[in-house]
Amino acid sequence: MLQYMGQINDGISAQFVMTPTLAIDLPVMGCGTWAWGNRLLWGYDETMDGELQQVFNRCVAAGVTLFDTGDSYGTGRLNGRSEQLLGRFAREYKGANADRLCLATKLAAYPWRLTRGSMVRAGQGSIARLGRVDLAQLHWSTANYAPWQEWALLDGLCDLVDRGLARGVGLSNFGPDRLRQVHRKFQERGVPITTLQVQYSLLSTYPVTELGLKETCDELGIRLIAYSPLGLGLLTGKYDPQKSLPKGIRGLLFRQLLPGLQPLLDCLGAIAQVRSKTIAQVALNWCIAKGTIPIPGAKSVAQAAENLGAIGWLLDAGEVAELDRVAAGLDRVMVQNIFQSR
Ligand SMILES: NC(=O)c1ccc[n+]([C@@H]2O[C@H](COP(=O)([O-])OP(=O)(O)OC[C@H]3O[C@@H](n4cnc5c(N)ncnc54)[C@H](OP(=O)(O)O)[C@@H]3O)[C@@H](O)[C@H]2O)c1
Repeated sequence: MLQYMGQINDGISAQFVMTPTLAIDLPVMGCGTWAWGNRLLWGYDETMDGELQQVFNRCVAAGVTLFDTGDSYGTGRLNGRSEQLLGRFAREYKGANADRLCLATKLAAYPWRLTRGSMVRAGQGSIARLGRVDLAQLHWSTANYAPWQEWALLDGLCDLVDRGLARGVGLSNFGPDRLRQVHRKFQERGVPITTLQVQYSLLSTYPVTELGLKETCDELGIRLIAYSPLGLGLLTGKYDPQKSLPKGIRGLLFRQLLPGLQPLLDCLGAIAQVRSKTIAQVALNWCIAKGTIPIPGAKSVAQAAENLGAIGWLLDAGEVAELDRVAAGLDRVMVQNIFQSR
């Protein structure tokens, strides 16, 4: 296993771990791009593109070289926008760590994608927008509603690697039982599963803790990616039901959740103060301390810069235990993805 410590100008260090199976570098933290092109939930508009490119550049230069996108990202006529922006930013980037870039997209298990060929065509569509696909992930498991559907799609995912269209494969929203079944199938095809991503944060520990998903991933040699690691923005401490809430569905959700979150925000705040860090940085570092790769979404350079302050240090066992204890005592936590399988 190759380890690389990248030292960057502003003192942030990023550690890369070469996965034992494939030559894909996975940094300790990545960056999510769901918001890039999404008007409905995230309030995106095209005037943000210049700043998003700066977000990209800043992250890569600091060693945050994993970018997560999806072929379903982008609302309405902006469908595919996240992949297009990422593709352009990657093409134009000439700075440090360019050779370590990992563009990870998620191919949707749409009901009309029924054959392995449809998955290969989906991958080719993503390559057209991104320029290349390093990690092709199945966006969700169909186990909860059409368990037969995903086998052909998983074969298509392996075909992408066999045909040299993707460097590796990953999964998303799979639980340990289904993961084991899929792992057996992929072993027969001789294609290792590089990563699995699930929702994971101090506000969402299912299925990692409750179903033992991290242990299963460790046993199978799969790296676990934590999506929505900031609880969609709740774990930054910037929202307040009396003063500021985001527009739309997030605002409605946050209005319900925020009043019960104060003990956790207080605990995060106390640790942040001792560490001279911010609440968001502590929340992200908790994911790293749990052995996962968080991929926080960032819509501005300021957010990206703050999130980069989550790497290069580690919470100690006592701080992690205290956060676990307070989080476990919360009445209400984040809603689960309906596609998450067991
Ligand atoms: N596989 C799946 O099914 C799945 C599902 C969801 C997400 N994902 C992936 O995971 C990525 C991350 O999750 P997410 O975007 O859902 O949620 P998140 O990372 O928990 O929260 C991201 C949002 O929090 C706010 N934020 C981020 N950094 C901040 C900072 N330092 N200070 C203040 N506010 C900050 C921004 O929104 P505001 O400024 O608007 O508050 C940002 O868009 C996604 O982009 C996507 O790539 C995958």
